[in-house]
Amino acid sequence: MLSNNKKLVAVIGATGQQGGAVVRALRDSSQFKVRALTRNPDKHRELTGEVVKADLNHPETLKAAFEGAYGVFLVTNNWEQGADELKQASAAVRAAKDAGVKHFIWSTLPDVEAISGGKFHVPHFTGKAKADRVVEEAGFVNHTFVIAPFYYQNLVSVVAPQKLADGSLGWALPLDPDVRCIHMGDISELGNIVAGAFAHPDEAGNGEYLPLVGDFMSFNEIVDALNRQGHNFSVKQVPKEVFAGLFPGGAEVADMFRYFQAHTYLGSDSHDRIALANKIAGKQPTRFSTWARLNVPPPDKR
Ligand SMILES: NC(=O)c1ccc[n+]([C@@H]2O[C@H](COP(=O)([O-])OP(=O)(O)OC[C@H]3O[C@@H](n4cnc5c(N)ncnc54)[C@H](OP(=O)(O)O)[C@@H]3O)[C@@H](O)[C@H]2O)c1
Repeated sequence: MLSNNKKLVAVIGATGQQGGAVVRALRDSSQFKVRALTRNPDKHRELTGEVVKADLNHPETLKAAFEGAYGVFLVTNNWEQGADELKQASAAVRAAKDAGVKHFIWSTLPDVEAISGGKFHVPHFTGKAKADRVVEEAGFVNHTFVIAPFYYQNLVSVVAPQKLADGSLGWALPLDPDVRCIHMGDISELGNIVAGAFAHPDEAGNGEYLPLVGDFMSFNEIVDALNRQGHNFSVKQVPKEVFAGLFPGGAEVADMFRYFQAHTYLGSDSHDRIALANKIAGKQPTRFSTWARLNVPPPDKR
């Protein structure tokens, strides 16, 4: 297809894990051209042909960022100091409507507050879920929700194994490690679902929820899979109060793990949604052990 005939998709978070995956998948498709959005376009010219400034905290930047776009992919980053995800998402929805965007895709998470009847407080989940209504009510020709899983990548970054009190290497978590409750995945594969949804708005552009899930595991199963590949990790359950005091923001992360145990990561039976997401992506997502073999080398293979 000639480049002029390709539909333009503007991608927020293009320098990050989710948006980066979306940029790569769209760049590889024959149907779309990509506008990568970042607060610092001069630092990221290599991303794709068109790199444009966008700052969700400065909605006036979003007009030029979305101009002429058929589609927008939006992810917000709660870990950024002072980020108000509902406010940022609302600003992006408003700007996309004004720009005449047809298909809006929002990376959301389950509403932990509603699912748990207010028992667990996980603002970086619930805060995203609260924006779903804003997207829904905006009246785009098409809109889609994608749900990012617990990234496999967390296990070599923010949730990397630590030295435990007994001297072993592994995880101390406020979670029963026997309970299978974590929907996980290789976040670099999120782009396949997003590009597929832009390409098939008839099947996936009517408010469908599309979770990326490569595996569904307990923490003991995660540890067993790694140990079968030459590691010697362990996992111990610790009281939530102990975990909450380990680092700033620990209480929220403790509630997140307790929510996983009580309700699972996705919070409900998501079999049909996962099947649709995989169909739309056009491929099965990578299983954890396959990903780990390539990305978590045991000490003697480093
Ligand atoms: N880790 C997990 O397991 C997991 C699971 C599900 C969901 N999530 C969610 O994923 C989100 C983070 O996504 P990620 O992993 O792709 O993040 P990331 O790799 O840390 O990248 C963050 C991206 O957000 C962009 N950004 C931040 N503030 C912005 C602003 N004000 N305006 C425009 N762009 C802004 C950054 O762009 P520039 O710096 O280039 O401007 C960057 O591209 C979080 O909200 C988290 O809750 C994480």
